[in-house]
Amino acid sequence: MSSATRQEPYAMNLLTTPDYVTRQDLTDWVAEMAQLCGPDNVHWCDGSQAEYDTICEQMVSAGTFIRLNPEKRPGSFLARSHPSDVARVEDRTFVCSIRKQDAGPTNNWVDPREMKETLNELFRGCMRGRTMYVIPFCMGPLGSDIAQYGIQLTDSPYVVVNMRIMTRMGRAALDAMGDRPCVPCMHTVGKPLNPGEADVAWPCNPDVKYIVHFPEERAIWSYGSGYGGNALLGKKCFALRIASCMGRDEGWLAEHMLILGVTSPDGEKTYVAGAFPSACGKTNFSMLIPPKEMEGWSVTTVGDDIAWIKPKKGKLWAINPEAGYFGVAPGTNWETNPNAMSTMEKNTIFTNVGLTDDGDVWWEGLTDEAPAHLIDWQGNDWTPESGTKAAQPNSRFTAPGFQNPAIDSSWEDPAGVPISAFIFGGRRATTVPLVIQSTSWMFGVYKAATMGSETTAAAIGATGEVRRDPFAMLPFCGYHMGDYFNHWLQIGRELTDAPLIFSVNWFRKDELGKFLWPGYSENMRILRWVVERSRGQARATEGPLGYVPHYCDIDWRGSAVTEEQFLKAQSVDSDGWKAEIQSHEALFDKLYDRLPKEMVLMRQLILSKLWRVPKTWGLAPE
Ligand code: GTP
Ligand code: SPV
Ligand code: MN
Repeated sequence: MSSATRQEPYAMNLLTTPDYVTRQDLTDWVAEMAQLCGPDNVHWCDGSQAEYDTICEQMVSAGTFIRLNPEKRPGSFLARSHPSDVARVEDRTFVCSIRKQDAGPTNNWVDPREMKETLNELFRGCMRGRTMYVIPFCMGPLGSDIAQYGIQLTDSPYVVVNMRIMTRMGRAALDAMGDRPCVPCMHTVGKPLNPGEADVAWPCNPDVKYIVHFPEERAIWSYGSGYGGNALLGKKCFALRIASCMGRDEGWLAEHMLILGVTSPDGEKTYVAGAFPSACGKTNFSMLIPPKEMEGWSVTTVGDDIAWIKPKKGKLWAINPEAGYFGVAPGTNWETNPNAMSTMEKNTIFTNVGLTDDGDVWWEGLTDEAPAHLIDWQGNDWTPESGTKAAQPNSRFTAPGFQNPAIDSSWEDPAGVPISAFIFGGRRATTVPLVIQSTSWMFGVYKAATMGSETTAAAIGATGEVRRDPFAMLPFCGYHMGDYFNHWLQIGRELTDAPLIFSVNWFRKDELGKFLWPGYSENMRILRWVVERSRGQARATEGPLGYVPHYCDIDWRGSAVTEEQFLKAQSVDSDGWKAEIQSHEALFDKLYDRLPKEMVLMRQLILSKLWRVPKTWGLAPE
C-alpha cells in the first residue's frame, strides 16, 4: 500500500459505494465512521457466494483460516483464536442507558456520555492498515414483520463470513430493509497496524475490551474481541440485549430460547420454546431425535439459541432471528446429536477445535478414543497423553440452518410458529427435579425468574458455580431485570391461549456424581409429556412445586430408566428446597425497587406448601 493511498484512503473507496445502496443516512454514517476508524479500504458486502469464497481465501493466505480436507469436510475451515479471546466477556459488557436504574443491578453501567468519549478515543484510527467491511443484515426471515435490520461495520473478515452464515446479509438484506429503522453496530478487533507491520492470525486486543449497548439510541459498539457473542453483533448484542428493550417498549419478547416442533404419530404438530443458559443444551434439545421405539414421533428445529415472540390474537408466535448455528463443539457426536453432526458436514467454520493429521476436526467427546496425534486449538502437537484439552471447552462450529436435516418446514415462515409450551432448564447437580409443570403463568414466571444454573465455559470466568440466571437471560437482558419480570407478567395477562410453563433439569446427579437422567434423545420422553399436557391429553399429579407425572404417565418404550431412578430424579428434598427458596431472597433484594409484588407472593406460597411436606417428597412406586 503506497503512502498516498494510506493518507486519503476512504475518500477514494467511498466512491465505490455500490449503486444499489440508496439510503443516504447509511452512506453518511459509513463515511463518518470510516473517518473515525481510518481503515485502508471500505468494502460493502453484497452477501454473494463469490464474495464469501474470496474472503475465506484471503483468510487462508493470512493464516487466520486453515482449509480442512475437502474430501472429509468440503467448504470448511478451522480458525484458532488468540488464547485470551475464547468466550463472551460479561464483566466487559455494558448497558449504557441514560438512567442507571434502567440498566438495573444485573448489568454493568456507565454514563452514556462518558462511555461515548471512551469509545471515540478507542475507535480513532482503530482500523488503520485494515479493510472496513460494511454488513447490512436482517435478523429474521426476509420480509417478516417480526424481523429487524442492522448494519455492522467491522475490520474482521472472520466476522464477515460468520455473519453470512448466522444472518441474512448483504444486498438482499438492504433491499428488504427499505426505509425501515436500522441498528448501527460498530465493531473492531482493536488492533490497528502500523505501516509495514505484519498482521497476526487472530488480531484482537488482549488488554482492552468493551461490549457496549446504548438502549435508547438502539446502538452497539464492540471493541477488542473477535469471538462469538462479542463480535457477531446480530446475535447477543442486537437479538437479545437491544431487542429485549424493543420488546419491552413494543409489547413483545426477545428470549434466549430454542424453538422446536413436535409431531405426534397422528400428524399433529406442537411448537415448544425452551430457555436454557449458555452451554446447557439448547442446540442439543432443538435437534433431538426421539428413541426409535417412540415410533411416529419426530422433532424439527426452528431455532437453537434465540426466539423473538409476539402476541397475536391471544396466542404467542415465534421466529428464529438467526439463519445458522454457532454451536458448542465439545460433547457433540453421532450419538448425542446426529443432526448437528450432519449439519456441519460441509460449509462450516470451526473455531478452536483440534486438527487431525488428515485435515479434519476433533474435540473432546467426538469419539470414545482420541486420535493418536493432532494439533490442538493453540496450534501445538497433541497426544492423548498431553494432559490438556485438544479443543477449547467453548470451541464452536458455525453452520447454516438449511443444512440441518431436521429443519422445520416453517423455520422461515414470516408469521412465525405458534408456541404451546415454554420449558426452562438450568444445569443443577442437586435439588432441582427432572420435570415440573407450573400451576399458572404467574408461578411459571416465578420459577423462570429464580432459575439457578452452574456457570459454563461460554463466558470467561469461573465455571461450575451456581448462580441465579433468570430466564437464562442474566447476561442478555438489556434493561432492569425487575421490569423484565413485570413485562412477562403483563404479556401473560393479555393472552387467551397462553403456553403452559415447565421447568426441567437434565443435569441432576446422584451421590456418586453420576447423572440421574440419561439426557439427549431420552429427553423426548419428557418432551412428549410436555406436549401432551399442552394438548390436554396427559395425566399429572400436584406436588409441592407444581404438577408432575406419575411413572406410568411417561412413554418408557425402549428405555433403560427404572421406576426407582425416575422417582429419584423427581424427588423433592424439602430442606434443600427451603434453602433454595430462601436463597431467592438475595436476587429479590437486589431487584427490590422494581420487583413485581407477585414474586414475593409466589415465594410465600411455595414456602407455605413446603412446610407441610415430609423431608423427602416423592410419588410412591406404582
Ligand atoms: P449456547 O450456544 O452457549 O447458548 O448453548 P446451548 O444451550 O445451545 O448448549 P448445547 O446444546 O450446545 O450444549 C452444551 C453442552 O451440554 C454439551 O457439552 C452437551 O454435551 C451438554 N448437554 C446437552 N444436552 C444434554 C443432556 O440432555 N444431558 C447432559 N448430561 N448433557 C447435555
Ligand atoms: C452463548 O454464550 O449463549 C452463546 C454463544 O450462544 S455466544 O454467541 O458466544 O454468545
Ligand atoms: Mn446462547
